[in-house]
Amino acid sequence: MTRLREPRRFADPDRFWPQRPDNAHLAFSGGIHYCLGAALARMEAQVALAALAHRLRDPRLVDSAPPYRPNTHLRGPERLLVAFDRLDPVSRFRGTDRPI
Ligand code: HEM
Repeated sequence: MTRLREPRRFADPDRFWPQRPDNAHLAFSGGIHYCLGAALARMEAQVALAALAHRLRDPRLVDSAPPYRPNTHLRGPERLLVAFDRLDPVSRFRGTDRPI
């Protein structure tokens, strides 16, 4: 059983509950079975999100000052809502750090 569905750790573990309190990030598990590919998976996500961001036409922040998580260790926005006019087709991006 995955830790994310562990009833001893999470109340009502099968319920989709985005605002769940005490919602520790365990997507890569933890302890001795911590995902060996976590660093690669994070790098892949960075590449994929950058590729997606390059395809957005006229992207802009919805909140001028995005709310930050009240967490001194894992600093970052609670959410980052981005509005855009449209999404360019995949063929405009060749996987470099710049759109063509
Ligand atoms: C978003 C992508 C990924 C997620 C969410 C993820 C998640 C997980 C989770 C939850 C576990 C623990 C499983 C358990 O406790 O039985 C795990 C283990 C593992 N993952 Fe990943 N993983 C990802 C990507 C990868 C990649 C890219 C690789 C390898 C290239 C990888 C290799 C492994 C290995 C070898 C284990 C077993 C570790 C052990 O049992 O000691 N994972 N992963």
